[in-house]
Parts: sequence; structure tokens; C-alpha cells
Amino acid sequence: MNMQAPKREAPTATSVDGVPYDSTVTTDIAMQDTLLTPRFYTTDFDEMDAISVEGVRADWDALIAKMEADPNKGHFKKNEDWDTVDWEGMEPQLKKEFIDFLVSSCTAEFSGCVLYKEMKRRGSNKDITQLFQLMARDEARHAGFINDALREAGIAVNLGFLTQKKKYTYFRPKFIYYATYLSEKIGYARYITIYRHLEAHPDKRFHPIFKWFKEWCNDEFGHGEAFALLMKTDPKLTTGRNVWWIKFFLTAVYGTMYVRDHQRPAFHEALGVDVDWYGQEVFRKTSEISKQIFPITLDIDHPRWLPTLKRLQKANADLAAAKARGGVSGRLGQVAASARAAAAFVSLYTIPAIRHDVPISTRLEPAY
Ligand SMILES: [Fe+2]
Ligand SMILES: [Fe+2]
Repeated sequence: MNMQAPKREAPTATSVDGVPYDSTVTTDIAMQDTLLTPRFYTTDFDEMDAISVEGVRADWDALIAKMEADPNKGHFKKNEDWDTVDWEGMEPQLKKEFIDFLVSSCTAEFSGCVLYKEMKRRGSNKDITQLFQLMARDEARHAGFINDALREAGIAVNLGFLTQKKKYTYFRPKFIYYATYLSEKIGYARYITIYRHLEAHPDKRFHPIFKWFKEWCNDEFGHGEAFALLMKTDPKLTTGRNVWWIKFFLTAVYGTMYVRDHQRPAFHEALGVDVDWYGQEVFRKTSEISKQIFPITLDIDHPRWLPTLKRLQKANADLAAAKARGGVSGRLGQVAASARAAAAFVSLYTIPAIRHDVPISTRLEPAY
């Protein structure tokens, strides 16, 4: 009898609370499709390919030239600033939440890469394919860099598997514009807010990846600029009935971020960040930026805003608990919690929005 332990194909490099973690575990996390997790998207690529950017030509050419110059070409590589990470010494709850943060960020970055690459592949419009190729290049770097950090712990996400097996959600182009524009700009706001906070409190920087966030978020800022220009080519996208859609996406994106971030208390505690402060700070920056193209912003100082976000978050936590409980009581609990989450969303959506005049030119520079 062979008494040798069977060889594992991928060694378990880390464990969380006694549960061994490997690439299969993180890939499973990345595969999840819920209202709260990053999804993969597909769209009507022919419609997008038909866009003419002539109306915004000067700003368009300036933006593309900047992206082609590729200032961050050498940025996404580990160098001497990459301190050794003590994965094994990390407090278990923090480790679990931090892995969740990295996997979800990696999936979101890669989702952009997959969508942009597909647009480049399917299109024949030179302006459009050129833009999407440049953005796919950036997102591939971003996802790859996060995955390098996960790889150090032996838990890199299998991105090839995701490309093939993760579900693709269809969004018509205008919804892609709203959702992607916002996710690029809120991504910028999230990364820069953490970066500035850690600049002031370097003792709280428990992982080197945060040092890379400044140049990183400038990429996201530029991607958001591109979507602002795409929307500018067709005034209908940001007027009339579509303003209700814009409000819907603003509410959904802000609400999702709030709920997701509150699932990671130990992570924010380690960073020394108050999650409510962080949320409002990121919403404020994103709203300020989105005035470049959206005629409304959400009233995040409205007396109903924060209490209702808290209700939404509580309903989601109860929903997850009911799901985990299972059985008849679990099912009833899920129905009740879903109804409460829906009611909270409606309440957020019906807070009167703040109207703005939209400037003639969308152009902005990262200023935070
Ligand atoms: Fe990115
Ligand atoms: Fe991006």
C-alpha cells in the first residue's frame, strides 16, 4: 500500500478559519451571480459600433491620444514598494473580508476587460474599436495585478474559466453606458478615497496593493470620460424619460456599494475607515463628477437617505441569513426580507433628485 499523501494539483496556500482556500474557492466566489456581485455583460455590439463621435471629435481625439501615450504602461508591476505580505498572520475575519474584496474587485475589473474586448472584436468603427481596445488593455492589467496579489496566497481566480463559464447578462447599449460610466467613476472615487486616507494614515496600510491606487484610479477616470463622451453624442440619452433610468442606475449603484461595503466591517476597521463616512464621501465625489453629463444627482443629504440605506442593508443581511437557514422558515424569511429590500429601494428612488445644468463640454480632470 502506498502510504504517501496524494499530491494536490494546486497546493492549498492559505486557510481562513480552518477552511482551506485555493483557486477553486476564489473562482467559485467570482462565479456567483447575485444582485450584489460583479456580473459579466453582453450587449448589442452593432448598435454601439454605429456611433459617430464627430460631434465630440476634439475632446475624443485628446482623450484617445492620452490613452495611447499609455502613462501607466509600467505601473502594474510589483517593485521594491511591494512589501512582504503576512497572509498567515492576518486576523481570520480580516483575511476573509480582504480576500472577498480582492476577488470582487478582480472580477469587476475583468468584467470590464471581457466586455471591452468583445466590443473591439465585433466592431468595425475605427473610433469605437480603438477606444475599447485601449480600455480592455487597462482592465486586463488591473485584473491581472489583483490576481497577482491573490496568487501570492495561492488563491488566484481562474479568469479563463470565468470567461467561459460565468453567466453573461444582456444590457441594451444605453444601460451599458449608464452602468459602466457610473462604475468607472465610482471606481475612481473609491480608489482615490482609500488612497488619500492611507496617505494620511500609512500605519493602516495593511497590504501594499493600496500604494498602486493613485495611478490606477486615473485609468478609471479616463474610462469614465470616454463613456461621458459616448453619451454626449446622443442628447436623448441624458434627457426626457431616460433621466428616470439615470436615477435608477445611480440609486442601484450607490445602494449596492453601501450594502457590499457593510459586509466587510473588519476590512474597513483595519483601514481605519468609518464605512458610513466612506460611502458618503465616495457618493459625493461621484455625484460631483457625474454632473459633467447627468442632469440630476441623488440627494444624499436628504433625511431619508442614510436611514433607508441602513434599512436596505439590514434587509439584505436578513435575506442572506434566511437563505442560510433554509427550510420553511428560511423561505418565508427570504420573502419577507426581499419585500423589505424592495420597499427600501423604492423609498430611496423616490427621494427627489437635485437638478443641474449640464456643461457644453464634458471634459474633466481627476481632481481628488
Ligand atoms: Fe479598471
Ligand atoms: Fe475602468
